[in-house]
Amino acid sequence: MDNRPIGFLDSGVGGLTVVRELMRQLPHEEVIYIGDSARAPYGPRPAEQIASYTWELVNFLLTKDVKMIVIACNTATAVVWEEIKEKLSIPVLGVILPGSSAAIKSTRNGKIGVIGTPMTIKSDIYRQKIEMLSPDMTVTSLSCPKFAPIVESNEITSSVAKKIVYETLAPLKGKVDTLVLGCTHYPLLSPIIQNVMGPEVKLIDSGAETVRDVSVLLNYFQINRSRELESKHQFFTTAGVASFKEIAQEWLGSTITVSHVDLEKSEENDV
Ligand code: DGL
Repeated sequence: MDNRPIGFLDSGVGGLTVVRELMRQLPHEEVIYIGDSARAPYGPRPAEQIASYTWELVNFLLTKDVKMIVIACNTATAVVWEEIKEKLSIPVLGVILPGSSAAIKSTRNGKIGVIGTPMTIKSDIYRQKIEMLSPDMTVTSLSCPKFAPIVESNEITSSVAKKIVYETLAPLKGKVDTLVLGCTHYPLLSPIIQNVMGPEVKLIDSGAETVRDVSVLLNYFQINRSRELESKHQFFTTAGVASFKEIAQEWLGSTITVSHVDLEKSEENDV
């Protein structure tokens, strides 16, 4: 047993899609979340910068004495998961392998689509992992640079969002039976994505799949949290608290405490 919290990080609000799943699947676990909305999106940034920002978030989580870290961001996972995993003595999970194996299980015709940020798609990591696990698959990847900014600015129900999703996904329509949402921001857009792709296409939420792996690791290392304790989740953002809180509360369906953190000064302000 280990009653310490689990740390989650993302470039912004996207990792909340993973946290929502954690709260559903493992409600007795406690969460420390940091979203770097001040510097989102990460997707168009160079790899070195993504790596250094992600390390700053990891180091922040380590000051909170977390027992495990979930890199709830595909872009950061693509660039720096291996390195972080090697260097830390606690378990570190990324979101890409779980999403890849779920896609393989789901497809009937072997045609898998992957959508993600420019960096995730450029890294070609989903194709590599999927083909490594199952060489017969055909993977079609598509970069969707406009999706994460729509989510960060909480415009997910706007008509502009619908138009952008419709136009961006047009090349994939009718070509795949399974679509990996290879960015943790995208489940917030999944009603529109499903509508555009059609009901027969199965959407894979990489974050939700990751929580199944969190559960396996907690059991394997015997570091589950006591079911008798109450959870006091803490959320941190590098940008404005109000917008983060609005998106988070709507998505998580509960009232939460959010604090602003300045990573350069290591200052926290409760709001
Ligand atoms: N949520 C992130 C991901 O899963 C990144 C979005 C971004 O900052 O570009 O890739």
